[in-house]
Amino acid sequence: MRSSAAERSDGDDPSSELPPQLNGLPVIGNTLSLARDPIGFLDRVAEHGDVVRYEIAGSNFTMVLHPEYVEQLLVTDPESVRKLRLGEIGDKSAEFAPEGVLFTEGEQWRNQRTMLQNVFTLDRIERYGTTMTDVAARHAESWTDGEELAINRRFSELTLSILAKALFDIDIEERGSVITDVARAVNERSDSSTLSTYLPAWIPTPAQRRYDRAMTGFETLIDAVIEERRSADDPTDRDDLLSLLLTAETPNGYRHSEGELRDQLLTFLFAGHETTSLALTYTILSLTQHPAVEKRLHEEWDEVFGSTDPTSSDVPKLTYTDRVVRETLRLYPPAFAVFRTATEDISLGGYVIPDGTNVTIPQFRVHRDPRFYDDPEAFDPDRWDDPPERPEYAYFPFGGGPRHCIGMRFAMMELKLVLPTVLRRVGFELLSDPDPELAPRATLQPAEDVRIRVRATPSLR
Ligand code: HEM
Repeated sequence: MRSSAAERSDGDDPSSELPPQLNGLPVIGNTLSLARDPIGFLDRVAEHGDVVRYEIAGSNFTMVLHPEYVEQLLVTDPESVRKLRLGEIGDKSAEFAPEGVLFTEGEQWRNQRTMLQNVFTLDRIERYGTTMTDVAARHAESWTDGEELAINRRFSELTLSILAKALFDIDIEERGSVITDVARAVNERSDSSTLSTYLPAWIPTPAQRRYDRAMTGFETLIDAVIEERRSADDPTDRDDLLSLLLTAETPNGYRHSEGELRDQLLTFLFAGHETTSLALTYTILSLTQHPAVEKRLHEEWDEVFGSTDPTSSDVPKLTYTDRVVRETLRLYPPAFAVFRTATEDISLGGYVIPDGTNVTIPQFRVHRDPRFYDDPEAFDPDRWDDPPERPEYAYFPFGGGPRHCIGMRFAMMELKLVLPTVLRRVGFELLSDPDPELAPRATLQPAEDVRIRVRATPSLR
């Protein structure tokens, strides 16, 4: 019989010791401290070492802060953990898209991932390039000189339009705000700074009610989209994710059920637009404070594709743009942490993480660790030009190992096409706080809208 780590924690063998524990209050553990200041909480945990225990809403967590341990959990030994699903903490019964590829496990996940991989080949992603620039141009051209915008919201609409068109061939503008409402409600319901996040789902908090309403609206939309496609003359004739989901079968005969289909659409619409939108928002936020960086971007764009809009074949030549995007994803990783649950006792860094412990692996903190980055809080794209030797998993905005982001190439292509397309048309003047408070929700949100004034002519050309 396997003995539990807690039973074996006698201190004689260092690999049987539990990691140091952050002090907390009886019953609620560290929940209040996390809720008051979620970003500061990461620093407080890190003061105790690279593997630290804490307790949230009655659940045991361990935070892992060294790149080598990140690599062990995500890449070398991913079988020792499973995904921790959104909604599991605080005894929530309503989970987010449990049948979608973001949260499935084992055979079901492998079948889904194999099937979905076909939509994200390099060749296909390159074909989405025109949709990316067309949508970005249309949105940027609708913004007028002097107009004040919440740029995080506008980018959310823009990236959602791209995703919906590229992957599902739907014009989202015609469908109202159903999907942005869901994204907002998911973020709100998973806001670690709000104590109601830790209440069970059946307690009707306003956030829970908004979430339920948004989900009902979303399900109606998805059912309509699936129905429209099924009743089309040939539902399989389109070259997109929806056709694939409706028809594809893996070599071992696996097909999506109705429930999986719906959860898969929800997964992609959420995971695929909110993350990229945040990356664009934080890039613009950084550029408004670093005009010399923006000037160099324009110089690179002039040199690589002249006065036209970029195409996907230009992207590999955009080396400085790549550094700017990398640096933004380092300082502001839209997925600020990945979460797992140990499925066995794990030996890590001289400690044991007992079976059943939840594991937090925070990109946000590892990416700002002074052991791996000089002047880690500074926005400096040049740090990626001939970077010093550092552990591979000191940087992992898209995760790592078998569960790494399936949309990574799609997202990187999109960021490098949308930025020039937008910034060639309009300039931005920041009106809100240049160092905004950050709110780690399902994704790393600015706590308040990022407000900018549009300038019709880019100022730096
Ligand atoms: C800058 C943009 C993006 C960032 C930073 C990002 C980040 C991540 C991260 C960190 C993971 C791993 C989560 C984990 O290990 O628990 C992930 C998984 C995933 N991402 Fe992304 N993502 C981005 C864009 C996209 C896009 C554009 C799509 C779809 C078109 C997408 C779809 C997914 C899916 C489906 C998974 C789950 C994969 C699996 O478990 O097999 N993401 N993403």
